[in-house]
Amino acid sequence: MAEHMQLSKRLQAIGSFISRDSSFADIGSDHAYLPCYICLQHPNVQAIAGEVNEGPWNRAKETVSHYRLTDRIEVRMGNGLEILTKHDKIDTVVIAGMGGSLITTILTAGIEKLATVDRIIAQPNNHAYVIRRFMALYHYEIIDELIIEENGQIYEIIISDKKQPTDQDITTDVVQKQWLFGPILMEQKSAIFLKKWQAERDKLHRIIQQMKKAKVPDNDKLIRLENRLTWIKEVLS
Ligand SMILES: C[S@@+](CC[C@H](N)C(=O)[O-])C[C@H]1O[C@@H](n2cnc3c(N)ncnc32)[C@H](O)[C@@H]1O
Repeated sequence: MAEHMQLSKRLQAIGSFISRDSSFADIGSDHAYLPCYICLQHPNVQAIAGEVNEGPWNRAKETVSHYRLTDRIEVRMGNGLEILTKHDKIDTVVIAGMGGSLITTILTAGIEKLATVDRIIAQPNNHAYVIRRFMALYHYEIIDELIIEENGQIYEIIISDKKQPTDQDITTDVVQKQWLFGPILMEQKSAIFLKKWQAERDKLHRIIQQMKKAKVPDNDKLIRLENRLTWIKEVLS
C-alpha cells in the first residue's frame, strides 16, 4: 500500500481548506484523489466521492481500494448532490474542475442537500461570476479566494461559509464587479490575477473590434462587452 500520494498544486490548495475533522463530499471526484489525499493526511476525516459517470466512478473506487480507505470514503454514483442524504451530515462540499455554470447548476438543483453544509469550496474552470452570484443569493460568504497557475492554466478557488441572511443590495455595480473579479482577489491583485485579466482584456478588445466590423452590429451586446472592458481596465489600473 502506498502511504503517501502526490497531488496537483490545485487540489492541494483546495484540500487546505478542508478541516481536519470534516465529513466532506467531493462532487465530480473522478479518481477520488482529493478525498484519498485528505483522508491519508487526517485520520478523523470521512468523505463521500460522487460521480455521475461510470468510468470515473470505477476509477474512484479503485483509488479508494488502493489506499485501503473503503471504511472512510464512500464512492457513490449519481448526479450532483443527489447522492447525499441528510444522514450523511456533510459539513463541506467540494466541486472542482468543472465550468462555473455546471457547478452552479449542481448547487442550485441540490440546494436542500446543503442544509448541514457550512462550507462550499468551488474551483470553476471558467465563469466564476455565476458561482459568486450563487453564494450571495444563497447566503454563503466568500471567506477566501485563491488564484493559482499550474501547467499554464490559471485556476480560481472560492471558499464560502454559511452566514446569516442579510438584505445586501446585489444589484449595485460594486457587487457585480466583486462577482466578476472576486472580492478578495481584486483587493490582492496578485501577479497571476493581473496576468489573467490582462489576457481577458486583450481578448475582449479583439472581440469588440470584430463585432464593430459586422454589417449589423449587435449594439446591446457591444454595450455590455464595452462596459465589461471598462471594468477590466479599471481593475488593472
Ligand atoms: C474534470 S473532472 C474534475 C475532477 C476533480 N474534481 C478535479 O478537480 O480534479 C470533472 C468530473 O466531474 C464529473 N461530473 C460532471 N458532471 C457531474 C455531475 N452532475 N455530478 C457528478 N459528477 C459530475 C465528471 O464525470 C468528471 O469526472
